[in-house]
Amino acid sequence: MEPSLKLVEPAFGHRKAFLATVADYQAAGEDRYQPLLEIFRTDFRGYVHHLRLMARGVGLKPGWVPYTVFWSVKPGLPLVVGELHIRHWLVPALEKEGGHIGYTIAPSLRGKGFGTLQLALGLQKARALFDLDRVLVTCDSDNVASARVIQKNGGVFENEVVSDYSGKRVSRYWMELAPQEPRTRVRGERDEHKVR
Ligand SMILES: CC(C)(COP(=O)(O)OP(=O)(O)OC[C@H]1O[C@@H](n2cnc3c(N)ncnc32)[C@H](O)[C@@H]1OP(=O)(O)O)[C@@H](O)C(=O)NCCC(=O)NCCS
Repeated sequence: MEPSLKLVEPAFGHRKAFLATVADYQAAGEDRYQPLLEIFRTDFRGYVHHLRLMARGVGLKPGWVPYTVFWSVKPGLPLVVGELHIRHWLVPALEKEGGHIGYTIAPSLRGKGFGTLQLALGLQKARALFDLDRVLVTCDSDNVASARVIQKNGGVFENEVVSDYSGKRVSRYWMELAPQEPRTRVRGERDEHKVR
């Protein structure tokens, strides 16, 4: 059966749903997108373009690695359900506490299983597009919901560290990704998304 949730690349066509999600965060008093509100209003196309550049590693901040952002959408829902970032490889700071994958679910849609499903879909992308066979996912140790999302996706707890940024305790989990099914390449097909 097709999963009811789908990860899509950010595109201008999702603008209305994405802005509804931004409003959802504001209504919940969460400032996740606060610094970007002006750019969303005035240059959404530019924002989407910026995300594409980040995925290609163009214009990254010093020390950052390329990362690909996905939005999760579900037919019939007027909001972008969530957002998931895949960092293409680890550098020491990510290895210590950031991990490969970050995610969030729109506040009004939490607690319905989307977070768990979204990470499962993200793990498939990590395997298929970035050839990762082992993925590090971390969360603040007091983030019970995120820890459950990780555990339900097979995360194996390695250890706890103290964040260099927040001073909070961060739990580190590894996930082994199953090998991909061999697939016959269609003549002329290109690996447009494969970055490494
Ligand atoms: C973490 C987050 C993505 C989880 O998404 P979600 O859609 O609520 O997750 P699910 O509905 O799949 O729930 C996963 C598990 O967490 C549990 N859970 C959800 N919200 C919870 C809460 N507030 N307190 C305790 N457990 C909670 C669920 O009961 C479920 O566990 P169960 O199956 O054992 O019952 C979401 O809470 C979120 O976006 N939080 C803010 C951003 C964030 O913390 N991102 C992760 C950074 S590491």
